[in-house]
Amino acid sequence: MRQVDVSLGSKSYAVYIGAGLLAQAGRYLKEKGFAGRLVVITDSTVNRLCGSALRQALEADGFGVSTIEVPPGEAQKSLERAGQLYQELTAGRAERTTPILALGGGVIGDLAGFVAATYQRGVPLVQLPTTLLAQVDSSVGGKVAVDHGQLKNMIGAFYQPEMVIADISALKFLPTDELANGLAEVIKSAAIRDGQFFSFLEENMERIKSLDEGLLEEIVYQSVRIKAAVVAEDELDMGLRNILNYGHTIGHAVESASDFKIKHGSAVAIGMVAAARVSLHLGLLDEGELKRLQELIIRAGLPVGMPDFRVEEIMLAMQHDKKVREGKTRFVLLKSLGNAEVIDDVAPSLIEEVLTENEQA
Ligand SMILES: NC(=O)c1ccc[n+]([C@@H]2O[C@H](COP(=O)([O-])OP(=O)(O)OC[C@H]3O[C@@H](n4cnc5c(N)ncnc54)[C@H](O)[C@@H]3O)[C@@H](O)[C@H]2O)c1
Ligand SMILES: [Zn+2]
Repeated sequence: MRQVDVSLGSKSYAVYIGAGLLAQAGRYLKEKGFAGRLVVITDSTVNRLCGSALRQALEADGFGVSTIEVPPGEAQKSLERAGQLYQELTAGRAERTTPILALGGGVIGDLAGFVAATYQRGVPLVQLPTTLLAQVDSSVGGKVAVDHGQLKNMIGAFYQPEMVIADISALKFLPTDELANGLAEVIKSAAIRDGQFFSFLEENMERIKSLDEGLLEEIVYQSVRIKAAVVAEDELDMGLRNILNYGHTIGHAVESASDFKIKHGSAVAIGMVAAARVSLHLGLLDEGELKRLQELIIRAGLPVGMPDFRVEEIMLAMQHDKKVREGKTRFVLLKSLGNAEVIDDVAPSLIEEVLTENEQA
């Protein structure tokens, strides 16, 4: 078991990472002083795979567990679904002290987290992430939200959990494309903050993809450590936290230009390569480093080039991004593999140029 402490003063919490940890959730909760009733919010897929093991363990530790199940998928991140969850919590007489356990991927973490942040002005939240993406990214940092129509994460809050328990064993059920989705964020973490971790990924990518538990534990640990360090310095996303958006400016535009047919991780992979090309053009990164980045992304099972839609559409989608300010595009650029910097005034013409190169790649 590995542990990362997210240092946020009175809102600090631990992230526990290891194989078989869901079966020990009761012990961690008791150590934190929780007793009595708990509400688990999960989706039907995760409930089938991990729900009963968690419930049995919690009940063996003396907790009374109610489970609320929603269907899987991004569409559940809505105010309507949140409203229905409030209804069920009231009907089940959940109190201000009743913890909500978010068991699932980032969709459940964001939705159940949003409900926990708002039900009775906030009840204790425990994140139990079951996708690689949720373990390395969404469960840590305190951002919770639902979508508003086509606009992602428009209604939300900063709400830190009491703890995060990342059970590596849950990842053995994960489909290959969901694994790759999470690997994009893992590569991002290494690329922005830790050159040694980047080399580690280069040495081990195939074994990681074969779901070696020791290696999965290591990459979740390293990614969480990096995110926790950035979040601890910038809880409310005022500056440094921007570097976590490496690959995401173009990535979000690719996602929305594709009508969300391209998955987030794939879009971020394309965005990371395009941003690295911008870095190359500005003389920050060298050709060899760009190649290494591309090769690692390909080995992770992710795309590097633009799919078959037009550069203009992506440029247009980028102009609608809330992170694109006053005609200038805020970009996270790499100075080397392991070191990123936020640049505020990347010329749109340069972005268009690298996207066109990427299209041909
Ligand atoms: N809050 C944040 O800081 C933050 C950061 C990044 C992403 N997000 C959000 O996260 C969401 C995406 O999360 P995601 O990629 O985890 O998607 P997801 O929650 O939709 O999970 C993907 C699929 O995998 C299934 N699944 C979950 N765990 C599984 C397991 N162990 N085995 C097999 N199948 C499993 C789910 O049922 C679902 O069908 C988006 O809504 C995004 O906005 C939030
Ligand atoms: Zn992301």
